[in-house]
Amino acid sequence: MMGYRKAELFTWVVSFLCLSCLSSGFNPVDNYLIDCGSSTNTSVDSRVFIADNLASNLLSTPQDVLAKSNLTSITLFSDSPLYQTARVFTGSSKYTFSIHQSGRHWIRLYFYPFVYKSYNMSVANFAVSTQDHVLLSNFRVTSAAVVKEFSLNVTSNDLVITFTPSANSIAFLNAIEVVSVPDALISDDAHTISPAGDFQGLLSMALETVWRVNMGGPTVTPNNDTLWRTWIPDQRFLVQPNAATNASNIAAVKYVKGGATQDTAPPTVYGTATEMNSANNPNSNFNVSWEFDVDVGFEYLVRFHFCDIVSASLNELYFNVYIDPWIVVRELDLSTYVNELAAAYYMDYVTVTAVSNKLRISIGPYTIKGTYPNAILNGLEIMKLNNSKGSLSAADAVINSSSKKNVGVMVGTIIGAFIALVLAGILFMLFRKRRRLARQRLSKTWIPISTNGGNSQSMVSKYSNGTTLSAISNIGYRIPFAAVQEATNNFDESWVIGIGGFGKVYKGVLSDGTKVAVKRGNPRSQQGLAEFQTEIEMLSQFRHRHLVSLIGYCDEKNEMILIYEYMENGTLKSHLYGSGLPSMSWKERLEICIGSARGLHYLHTGYAKAVIHRDVKSANILLDENLMAKVADFGLSKTGPEIDQTHVSTAVKGSFGYLDPEYFRRQQLTEKSDVYSFGVVLFEVLCARPVIDPSLPREMVNLAEWAMKWQKRGQLDQIIDSSLVGKIRPDSLRKFGETAEKCLADFGVDRPSMGDVLWNLEYALQLQEAVIDGDPEENSTNLIGELSPQVNNFGDSNTSISATQFEVSAVDDLSGVSMSKVFSQLVKSEGR
Ligand SMILES: *[C@@H]1O[C@H](CO)[C@@H](O)[C@H](O)[C@H]1NC(C)=O
Ligand SMILES: *[C@@H]1O[C@H](CO)[C@@H](O)[C@H](O)[C@H]1NC(C)=O
Ligand SMILES: *[C@@H]1O[C@H](CO)[C@@H](O)[C@H](O)[C@H]1NC(C)=O
Ligand SMILES: *[C@@H]1O[C@H](CO)[C@@H](O)[C@H](O)[C@H]1NC(C)=O
Ligand SMILES: *[C@@H]1O[C@H](CO)[C@@H](O)[C@H](O)[C@H]1NC(C)=O
Ligand SMILES: *[C@@H]1O[C@H](CO)[C@@H](O)[C@H](O)[C@H]1NC(C)=O
Ligand SMILES: *[C@@H]1O[C@H](CO)[C@@H](O)[C@H](O)[C@H]1NC(C)=O
Ligand SMILES: *[C@@H]1O[C@H](CO)[C@@H](O)[C@H](O)[C@H]1NC(C)=O
Repeated sequence: MMGYRKAELFTWVVSFLCLSCLSSGFNPVDNYLIDCGSSTNTSVDSRVFIADNLASNLLSTPQDVLAKSNLTSITLFSDSPLYQTARVFTGSSKYTFSIHQSGRHWIRLYFYPFVYKSYNMSVANFAVSTQDHVLLSNFRVTSAAVVKEFSLNVTSNDLVITFTPSANSIAFLNAIEVVSVPDALISDDAHTISPAGDFQGLLSMALETVWRVNMGGPTVTPNNDTLWRTWIPDQRFLVQPNAATNASNIAAVKYVKGGATQDTAPPTVYGTATEMNSANNPNSNFNVSWEFDVDVGFEYLVRFHFCDIVSASLNELYFNVYIDPWIVVRELDLSTYVNELAAAYYMDYVTVTAVSNKLRISIGPYTIKGTYPNAILNGLEIMKLNNSKGSLSAADAVINSSSKKNVGVMVGTIIGAFIALVLAGILFMLFRKRRRLARQRLSKTWIPISTNGGNSQSMVSKYSNGTTLSAISNIGYRIPFAAVQEATNNFDESWVIGIGGFGKVYKGVLSDGTKVAVKRGNPRSQQGLAEFQTEIEMLSQFRHRHLVSLIGYCDEKNEMILIYEYMENGTLKSHLYGSGLPSMSWKERLEICIGSARGLHYLHTGYAKAVIHRDVKSANILLDENLMAKVADFGLSKTGPEIDQTHVSTAVKGSFGYLDPEYFRRQQLTEKSDVYSFGVVLFEVLCARPVIDPSLPREMVNLAEWAMKWQKRGQLDQIIDSSLVGKIRPDSLRKFGETAEKCLADFGVDRPSMGDVLWNLEYALQLQEAVIDGDPEENSTNLIGELSPQVNNFGDSNTSISATQFEVSAVDDLSGVSMSKVFSQLVKSEGR
C-alpha cells in the first residue's frame, strides 16, 4: 500500500519536473508514434517511434506482413530510419487509437516504397480514411519518400484509420503518428478573399498540409519545431528568383501578446524572410511571387507568417499581399498589429475553390511617397480543406463550375409550366433559407476589414463607446498629408466635386493610379470631429459591395480627411433630377434601389448590434461606373437601440424630408428609421422630384405625404416621372408602391425590415423583367401571379430538398448576384 503510494508520488513528482523542464514546449496528450514493420523502437528527432509489435493491439488486419528492406544503409533511402521497414496490408485494415483529449489531432503518414518478397510497394494503390473523412484515395507512391500530414478535430473516443487496397493491389505504411495539436493553433475563423469577408467553420474541417515553407532560409527539421513539423525552403517555388533576396535575423525574433506563439512557427521560420530584391532602386515596383501545385476543386487555408526583421524602425514597411489575382491585404503595416519590430504575426485566409492547379502567392510594395519599396514573407502554410463530400482526395474533387447554368439547362429541357413552377418555388425557398442562414451567420460575427488578418490582434471590443481615434488608427489606413495633397493637386478648387455640411469633396488620384474621392472636413468643427471618427470606425469595420469603401484617412495637422473609392457616376439624386443627366430606365432604377437596400440590410444585420445609418437619402447613394449603388456617408451612424438608450437626449439628426416622424416624436432610434427614409427614397426614384419642394402648391411640397396620398388612392401612376410613363409594368409598379407605402408606416413596428424591402424590390424587378421577354398576357405573367401567394408566405417551409442538391450558390445575398437573374432564366425557359 505504502509502496504504491510512494510510486504514485514519485510519478507525480517526475511528471511535474518534466512539465517544468519542458514548460516552453507542447506536451501532447495523445501521442502515438509507430514505426511500422519494425521490431525495435526507433528514435527520430528526439522522439521514439515504437516497434510495430507494441502497436499490434491497435491494429486489425487480415495478415501480418512486416517488411524489412534488405538494403542496410538507410542513407540510401532517405535521412530517416523510419523508412527501413514497412507494414504491408493485403486487405482492408484498421488502426484504432483511443483519444484521451478531444480536439484537433495530427495524422502523419510516412511512405517509402520498396520491394519485399513478392510485394512491390511501388505499385501499391490504396485509400486511407477515418470515420468522417477520406484522406487519400487512388493513392500511389512511386519513388521518393512521402510524408502526408492531415489534421482533424476528433470528438469521438476513438480515431479509426482504415487502409483499403484497391482491387488486386496492396497498401503499405512505414510509420504513423497520431498526435494532439494545441487547441489554439487552428481557430474556427479566417478571412475569405473573394468577396472579402469572414470565414467560419474551420474547427469541423479536416485539413491536409499541402505546403509548409520557410521563406528565405533552409529546411527547418522537426527537432527545431515545438510541434515536430518540417518546413521546406522556398527557392523552388519562386516564379522569378532574381526578384527576391534572403533576409535573416533569427536572434531578433520576439513572441509578443497579440501575435503568434512559438507553436505557431519557430524562430527559425520567423527569423528568415524572402524580401524584394529592389537593388537599392527607390522606384522598384514589382511583386515577388511563388507558385504552388494544388488540386483543383478544393478550398485552401493559407496561413501567412510575418515578422519584420528588415526595418530599422516601426511604420517603415508597407506592402500588399495577394492570393492569385486578389489583393488580400492592402498596405500591410505589421507595426500596427504587433507594436514592435521583429514580432511574429500570422494571418489566415481561405481561398476560393481552386480552378487552376497552381496557387500563386505574391507580395509587392505599397508605394506611398517617402517609404522605401519593400515587401517580405517569412513563412507560408497551405492547407487543403475537405470538400462537401468530406474528402481531401483529388480523386473526389467536386468540380462545380456552372451550377447555375445547369439549373437553366435542366429547366430548358423540361417543357411544362408545372415543373418550372415547382422548381421556381423551391428556388424561392432555398433563397429564403440561404438568406436566413447568411443572416444567422452574419449576426454571429461581423466582417472585419480586409487588412485585419488572422486572429492575432483584436478588432474585437472596438465597439465600445470609448473608441478613440488612435485605437482606430491601428487599422493601418492612415495616409500622410503630403500624399493627400499630391493626390488632389494641393486641394485644387477646380477638382471639387461636392460640398456638404462636413466640408468639400475633391476628386483625386493616388500615386498608384487609384481614383479617389477626398472629403476634407472643416478643421474647426467639434461636431465634425465626432462624425469623422464615426465614419472611420464604421467604414473600416464594414466592407460590402454596396457600401462605399474607405481607402484611408488623414488626421495629421488637425486635418480631418477621408479618402474613399471614387464613384464615377456621382449621386443617385443627380441622376433623378436637377442636373440634366439622361433619365434612367425603370430597370436601372430598381437595380439601384435593390443595391442600396442590400447595403442597408447588411448594416442592419451584418453585425451583432444593428448599425443605423440615420441619413439615408438619394444624395448618400452613390453610383459606380456600372451604375451599381453604394451607400455612403456614415458620419451620423449609430449602433442599435441598446446604445442609444444611454443617450436619451441624442439630438434628432438626419435630413429634412427623409426624417422618420416617429423618431422625431419619441427620439427613439431604431433601424426602422432608416426604413422610413428609404421609403422616401423609393418615391423619389419613382417621381424624380425633390423630397421637399417649397415652390410647389402646399399639398405637394412634401413628397412623402403627396405620394402616400396617391398610393392610398391606388393612382400612383398619376404622379410618376414623366419619362417612365407607359414603361413600368403595372404589377411592378403596384409592388413597388406597396413596398414604399409599408416603409412609410407611421409606426416603426408596422414597417418591414430592410431584408423584406429588399425581397419585395427583387420581386418588383422580376415582375418588370417578365414582360420584357414578350407575351405579356401569356403564361409567364400567370406564372408570376400564381407564385405570389407562395412568395408571400414561404416562411419556414420544411422542404426536404437540401441545399446541396441544388447548389444555387450564386443566389446569395453576399455574392451580389441577383436572385432575379436566376429566376428570370426559369421564366424564360418555361416560355420556350
Ligand atoms: C519501446 O518503447 C516503449 C514505450 O516507450 C517501451 O515501453 C519499450 O520498453 C521500448 N522497447 C524497447 C525494446 O526499448
Ligand atoms: C534484396 O531484394 C532483392 C529484390 O529487390 C532480391 O532480389 C534480393 O535477393 C534481396 N537480397 C537479400 C539479401 O535478401
Ligand atoms: C472540435 O469540434 C467541436 C465541435 O465541432 C468544437 O466544439 C471544438 O471546439 C473543436 N475543438 C478543436 C480544438 O478544434
Ligand atoms: C516495382 O514496380 C516498379 C514500378 O512499376 C517497377 O519499376 C519495378 O521494376 C518493380 N520492381 C520489382 C522488383 O518488380
Ligand atoms: C537564400 O537562402 C537559401 C536557403 O538558405 C539559399 O538556397 C539561397 O541560395 C539563398 N538565396 C540568395 C539569393 O542568397
Ligand atoms: C536546430 O536544432 C539544433 C539542435 O536541436 C541546433 O543545434 C541548431 O542550431 C538548430 N538549427 C537552427 C537553424 O536553429
Ligand atoms: C502584383 O500582383 C497582383 C496580383 O496578381 C497584381 O494585381 C498587381 O498588379 C501586381 N503588381 C505589380 C507591381 O506587378
Ligand atoms: C468538411 O467536413 C465536415 C464534416 O467533418 C463538414 O461539416 C464540412 O461541411 C465539410 N466541408 C465542406 C467545405 O463541405
